[in-house]
Amino acid sequence: MLVPAAMAALASTAAAPAIPRDEALEARVEATLARMTLDEKIGQMTELNIDVIADRGPDGRVVFKPGMLDTVIGKYKVGSILNVPGSAISPEEWRRVIGTIQDESMRSIGIPCIYGLDQNHGATYTAGGTLFPQNINMAATFDPTLARDAAAVTAYETRASACPWTYSPTVDLVRNPAWPRVWENFGEDPLLSSRMGAAQIHGFQGPDPNHVGPANIATSVKHYMAYSAPVSGKDRTPAVVSEADLREKHFAPYLACIRAGALTVMVNSSSVNGVPVHSSERLLTRWLKDEPGWDGMIVTDWYDINNLWTRERVARDKKEAIAMAINAGIDMAMEPYEWDYCTLLRELVEEGTVPMSRIDDAVRRVLRLKYRLGLFDAPVPDAGAYPDFASAEHTALARKAAVESMILLKNTDGILPLAAGTRILVTGPNANSMRSLNGGWSVTWQGRLDHGELDDKHTILEALRERFGSDRVTYAPGVLYDEAGDYQAELAPDFEAVRRAAAGADVIVACVGENSYCETPGNLSDLNLSATQKELVRVAASTGKPVVLVLNEGRPRVISDIEPLAAAVVDILLPGNEGGDALADLLSGDANFSGRLPYTYPRDVNSLSTYDYKVSEVTGVMAGAYDYKADITCQWPFGHGLSYTDFSYGELRPSAREFCHGDTLHFDIDVTNVGTRAGRETVMLYSSDAVASRCVPDNRRLRAFEKITLEPGQTRTVRLTIPASDLAYVGADGRWVLERGDFTLRVADSPATITCTATHDYPTPNRD
Ligand code: BGC
Repeated sequence: MLVPAAMAALASTAAAPAIPRDEALEARVEATLARMTLDEKIGQMTELNIDVIADRGPDGRVVFKPGMLDTVIGKYKVGSILNVPGSAISPEEWRRVIGTIQDESMRSIGIPCIYGLDQNHGATYTAGGTLFPQNINMAATFDPTLARDAAAVTAYETRASACPWTYSPTVDLVRNPAWPRVWENFGEDPLLSSRMGAAQIHGFQGPDPNHVGPANIATSVKHYMAYSAPVSGKDRTPAVVSEADLREKHFAPYLACIRAGALTVMVNSSSVNGVPVHSSERLLTRWLKDEPGWDGMIVTDWYDINNLWTRERVARDKKEAIAMAINAGIDMAMEPYEWDYCTLLRELVEEGTVPMSRIDDAVRRVLRLKYRLGLFDAPVPDAGAYPDFASAEHTALARKAAVESMILLKNTDGILPLAAGTRILVTGPNANSMRSLNGGWSVTWQGRLDHGELDDKHTILEALRERFGSDRVTYAPGVLYDEAGDYQAELAPDFEAVRRAAAGADVIVACVGENSYCETPGNLSDLNLSATQKELVRVAASTGKPVVLVLNEGRPRVISDIEPLAAAVVDILLPGNEGGDALADLLSGDANFSGRLPYTYPRDVNSLSTYDYKVSEVTGVMAGAYDYKADITCQWPFGHGLSYTDFSYGELRPSAREFCHGDTLHFDIDVTNVGTRAGRETVMLYSSDAVASRCVPDNRRLRAFEKITLEPGQTRTVRLTIPASDLAYVGADGRWVLERGDFTLRVADSPATITCTATHDYPTPNRD
């Protein structure tokens, strides 16, 4: 808990509420709280996994375990359940399962249960639901409107399944490309992640976070924060992050999301600078709740209160771990299997280790969420209200998002698009797999699909056959994944078949990358693409036929030694169910590429970097005896992506040459499509600070972007606008400052230098 001095300090820094206060709703929260017993309050702070109360029967239906609903909800008053038993179930089955739980909750507690699911790239756990590209693809579109619309569809299909809450969006900044959760996020940049995250909040929750409608659901922004910066690159391992980067970069998308109305936040399983985030009063209560004035709810990640003593070893036993987490600001524990948490928390309250005021604060936050979702009035929404579940429009949106997310990284001599009639050899382990197109969180946690699931969708091979004609497209995989093994397992290769098949082809489309994985099981020790798949590309190139390399991967696997062998390279990331058809649209030229890399693509496994590296990391040749020349290498930079057309840029025209804090800055630039095809271009504004006296400046930072469509020959003037405060930075002391001096703003190759005339120190932690 906060000591009084800290409370007083906060009072002076508190911002306006992140979500406007609704007095009528607050009155209902208070009235409910006033009639609750301590056991009922603790139950509302508990979340259990569905496996505790139910199983899958032999016919695939969910079967409740005898007596368990009575124990969990009747006796322990548990207020939240999560997850799917095994794999996705139909919307009707969800309504029956969640309906049964709601009936029991209303009967025995008079408070609805809140059910939560990882609907992370569409209706993941609802059979037949729309599966969109993963978030890394949504980022590559550079189109927040698409991200918003996709989230709205997911919300609709999730609510059609009677589930009111998803553990999305995931806005962890990708700062280590080896991390197995790269693809769940929006890339390495704070601005792109903030814009995409906020757009998804609006899509999921609708316009009013106090009154979430029946077609919308609550979000849980995760995993707060710096989860994505493990030093080891392995999942759930410690991050070491400077105070400046923590506040300025990692916190940025969380702040953007809660200001967009996010109703809940899920916590980083691991530690930052030695402190497990689940035990950090500073990060949970001060940064997330008090400073931005956020009245939402914080839920733990899986088993993470337990992990404080079993893994992190900052507590001696479970009881100490519970006290630590709840006093730090946790409101709901994703236990997820045991209810001894309820008994231990009760003891802690009775002993005075956890104050009643903290319990009441947590329960208010849970109740507020349930009222905001309208669950007290309608615990299960009307069955007939969702006629558009998995509609053709939803599928079309997923296809559009997939098309806009694929990135043309290289296209020597315009080998792409492929002309009609081209004879294509399709090879590689990713060529004929729905599993690898979708990645993790698809039907099952690890994205493993049973035979028959998603049969009506097209793999890359099927889509190319449909587009170019079955007689023009041959298939020799060369390498296949071993579906019975872990995600890295491959079967013995058959390169000879590839050599043979190449004889009758004009071009080889080699589809390589990764099989699906999720979380810790996706850890790796070598960021290189697998040796067998590299060999496949060498074999393909040795036939003398041009190779189009298609990368279908959740993170940037290093390919520097085989990239020169490819005439073209397309990174499709994890494009989801419509990915095969979207790729056929692009390779055939029916659509044009417009995706951009949302991260820096590494060239060497020991030279990992982000585009906003510190200026001191690159130095020119030094005079004298010692040459300390230093460089950063990458395969392709953040923001890279080609098109079938070309764009040219005019001069960048700033609205003022001098500015100070409080000003709004405009930058105008003419962009022309100088090619012969229509295309979409993302216009990006970067800034570089000449001198930053309180922290070594970043090389450059993305400050604004806009994606536009231009017909051949068309010119558009694009205006990019930022508040001057966007050019502020966080010093090594953890505080925001806008310093006087020069800044170079740049769009493409057009720079403009502007000058800040006076230094401004921000008195509040978030520049309010
Ligand atoms: C993951 C979360 C997820 C949760 C519930 C955890 O293992 O880290 O991202 O939301 O499980 O399924």
